[in-house]
Amino acid sequence: MHFKTPPDDRHASITTVAMPRDTNALGDIFGGWLMSHADIAGAVLAYSRAGGRVVTAAVDGFVFIAPVYVGDLVSFYTDIARVGRTSIVVDVTLFAQSDWGAGEREHRVATASLTYVHVNHDHRPTPVPPRTGTG
Ligand SMILES: CC(C)(COP(=O)(O)OP(=O)(O)OC[C@H]1O[C@@H](n2cnc3c(N)ncnc32)[C@H](O)[C@@H]1OP(=O)(O)O)[C@@H](O)C(=O)NCCC(=O)NCCS
Repeated sequence: MHFKTPPDDRHASITTVAMPRDTNALGDIFGGWLMSHADIAGAVLAYSRAGGRVVTAAVDGFVFIAPVYVGDLVSFYTDIARVGRTSIVVDVTLFAQSDWGAGEREHRVATASLTYVHVNHDHRPTPVPPRTGTG
């Protein structure tokens, strides 16, 4: 699922600060920078679920809801939407906080769904193992 507000029961997969080098020609944060971090955030969860190497197969429905500015604290929350035979779909929700030193609330800035495929050392799809334990 995509979160409407930052979930209380988990940490963000990545939290980082948007820097001046990450801007587009308008001076706002470049969408590609957000996409790159969303891909990494999703891959962290997919790798952990698969128990090994994953590749990004598809990025679906990347929606930019609000601009991100230099100095914003940006958090990438992830959630597994679906596990197939070899694929894992991860929903990523991005939140930003401008005046984070003053405790301003995080607001949602983007959502996306990314499909990862578990691959073996020959880069061929290989089954995602059943989930073990509580994780
Ligand atoms: C992703 C990749 C391994 C799939 O290989 P493939 O031979 O097409 O694999 P298959 O047809 O057996 O499909 C494997 C799984 O991927 C899924 N898949 C393949 N293409 C997909 C797409 N475009 N969108 C969503 N899922 C896709 C299939 O549904 C299948 O899932 P399932 O096993 O859970 O049912 C291959 O296309 C690849 O290596 N792509 C490049 C990956 C890459 O370099 N990414 C960027 C850097 S990480």
